[in-house]
Amino acid sequence: MSFNTFGRVFRFTTWGESHGPALGAVVDGCPPGLALSETDLQPFLDKRRPGTSRFTTQRQEPDQVRILSGVFGGRTTGTPISLMIENVDQRSKDYSEVALAYRPGHADYAYDAKYGFRDYRGGGRSSARETAARVAAGGVARAVIHEVSILAWVSEIGGDAIDPARFDAAEIARNPFFCPDPEAAKRWEKMVDEARKAGSSLGAVIECEATGVPAGWGAPLYAKLDSELAAALMSINAVKGVEIGDGFAAAKLRGEDNADPMRPGMDGPEFLANHAGGIAGGISTGQPVRVRVAFKPTSSILTPVETITREGTASEIMTKGRHDPCVGIRGAPVVEAMMALVLADQKLLHRAQCG
Ligand SMILES: Cc1cc2nc3c(=O)[nH]c(=O)nc-3n(C[C@H](O)[C@H](O)[C@H](O)COP(=O)(O)O)c2cc1C
Repeated sequence: MSFNTFGRVFRFTTWGESHGPALGAVVDGCPPGLALSETDLQPFLDKRRPGTSRFTTQRQEPDQVRILSGVFGGRTTGTPISLMIENVDQRSKDYSEVALAYRPGHADYAYDAKYGFRDYRGGGRSSARETAARVAAGGVARAVIHEVSILAWVSEIGGDAIDPARFDAAEIARNPFFCPDPEAAKRWEKMVDEARKAGSSLGAVIECEATGVPAGWGAPLYAKLDSELAAALMSINAVKGVEIGDGFAAAKLRGEDNADPMRPGMDGPEFLANHAGGIAGGISTGQPVRVRVAFKPTSSILTPVETITREGTASEIMTKGRHDPCVGIRGAPVVEAMMALVLADQKLLHRAQCG
């Protein structure tokens, strides 16, 4: 089993490596007749693209997406949609040390232990270059769930959180951190600069909300919307935690405080709170679907770390090359994409069973 495919009805498979000529995704199960062009997908790739500020890796990739199949006359045909993004700025010589010794915290040792052989250039398949393909596939998913709006933002970097009282959605696109709080964005400039100059890195928390999800998507037990989202989000590189709604904080509440009280509303029930993150019994309630995602700090850092070589001798590694000082920042568009991909699949699954 190789596990490069995600989804049940709306399925996508990604392919490619960091320093190969190209990478991409094949989306299968997309309904026919949806308006779709490269121009619809490109803005999502532009949000994730590296090299757009000093707070991300300086690898310069235009990340131009091409649709190779499955679309004719500006509409999806119902056949597999193949998406391709060329790699143009590989610098494989930076990885000569990674070929010999393992980066602690990265996938190098685990890949060798599993496969006995690895493409070390840029981290090969373990590089988050792969997430460009997910973002492209996520753009297709958004065409399926046109009734849903998805927005992700960075809510914490290096343990420093935004002030929820200052949350301004318009700010998210105005700074290089996808940060809705301008004060926090200013603090993060200094923090990320300091970490980068010190040869270190920082972790981050991303929050994501999907509004317009109708009640009824998901399944009660083995494909709970919660578990589908958790699996999708945990599959993103460097993600170490996922919370649905209040998540771990709910464990500190009493039942009456954690309830989402309901009243009769104009158009179905009116909920007075959303501790559950829009999901109950594995099924969407019609409230916004809310998740929080924890990204660990980048493991490729200039600070020397104790390690071993491929032969098992003691060594030290300091990782040169171009790396994100805080991978969580560029994680925000990837989180949005995975949310879209799960919801598109759930919409089609719901339609298949319930009409
Ligand atoms: C958008 C994004 C960019 C990333 N960039 C880097 C990077 O420049 N250097 C690095 O060491 N890890 C980077 N990572 C994380 C690694 O890909 C990840 O840590 C590695 O694949 C090991 O997997 P794991 O952390 O999930 O265990 C990035 C992750 C994301 C989501």
